[in-house]
Amino acid sequence: MTNDAFPPFAFNTTPSVRFEAGAARRFGAIAGPILGARILFVTDPGLRALGLCDAALASLEEAGIAVTIFDRVEADPSLATLTAAVETGRAAGVTGVAGFGGGSSLDVAKLAALLTGSGEDLDAAWGVGNAKGPRLPLALVPTTAGTGSEVTPVSIITVGEEEKRGVSSPLILPDIAVLDPELTLGLPPAITAATGIDAMVHAIEAYASKSANNNPLSKMLARQALQLLGAHVETAVFAGHDMAARSAMLLGSMLAGQAFANSPVAAVHALAYPIGGTFHVPHGLSNALVLPHVLRFNAPEAAGLYAEIAADAFPELAHEDGTQGRCGSFIEALAALSKKLGLPAQLREVGIGEEHLAKMAADAMKQTRLLVNNPRELREADALAIYRAAW
Ligand SMILES: [Fe+2]
Repeated sequence: MTNDAFPPFAFNTTPSVRFEAGAARRFGAIAGPILGARILFVTDPGLRALGLCDAALASLEEAGIAVTIFDRVEADPSLATLTAAVETGRAAGVTGVAGFGGGSSLDVAKLAALLTGSGEDLDAAWGVGNAKGPRLPLALVPTTAGTGSEVTPVSIITVGEEEKRGVSSPLILPDIAVLDPELTLGLPPAITAATGIDAMVHAIEAYASKSANNNPLSKMLARQALQLLGAHVETAVFAGHDMAARSAMLLGSMLAGQAFANSPVAAVHALAYPIGGTFHVPHGLSNALVLPHVLRFNAPEAAGLYAEIAADAFPELAHEDGTQGRCGSFIEALAALSKKLGLPAQLREVGIGEEHLAKMAADAMKQTRLLVNNPRELREADALAIYRAAW
């Protein structure tokens, strides 16, 4: 086989994954040997108040581990929050970090482990591959099925009012991801729907990514993710206590995370960021609002790829003939799915005025790190046309 037929790629993921209903209750036994005697437990005030952390904390105590809790992580976590987490960990002389929660808590935990372990300057670590390490031992426990942060090498922090900065480095992949679907049983329908669509977008964008590192492993994982997410998202939203559906969603979101961690996302995410950053619309919903419109724009270049995965998400589309027909039906089925799940379909429904669209299009163009992966080249006028269609 020649090199052309099998181009080189790199694939990094979390080295140890524990998927087990009830794993949080045994967190001390599972993660204790990795994290050491004194740990920083990073979470958010909402989960704390709900008591969702209690079983994991009790198991750590049972394992004889001294726990310092940092429970001040907010949505779109700020630099001030990260700094406070690092200072809390340093003051306690922690030997490891546990992140417990949605993407925000996991992102803060990743950088807290890095900065506490290495003492390096965060300003020099922003960007791709600039972190030096070493980090402290790190365990991540997701409580939503969406971001896949437990298997991605990225952490996004809000600097100043609304600037999002990221650190991307295999160094911040955790030592272990602990996936306990029981933790997701109580997620409200709106969050289940938005995070579920986000995970599907990760799989779709990873599969069609123009990244030079798009690879057979990411493609395989993306397809398996779409099969799980497509088959179970409705049940997870409308019958939240269905363990089979919750398990499939948590597993699917992790597989999609492994896919896009190595074959990065593109214009759906690039156009979603200005919606989230300026108007504080949750990340998954921001993606859902632009998803069908970006895929329609991409179709002239990506119809073949979308047609390949259409029946993974929606098995009934296997009977559709022809690439164009199957691609079109896939996009319509995604739009219909968002609606069925109760998500708003138009930007105007989430309080965005038409006068903001031009600024959003200009802001989306700053996401060059994502736009380079889009299967069709997208300019500012295209972004504006997409926002208008979504408005
Ligand atoms: Fe996402």
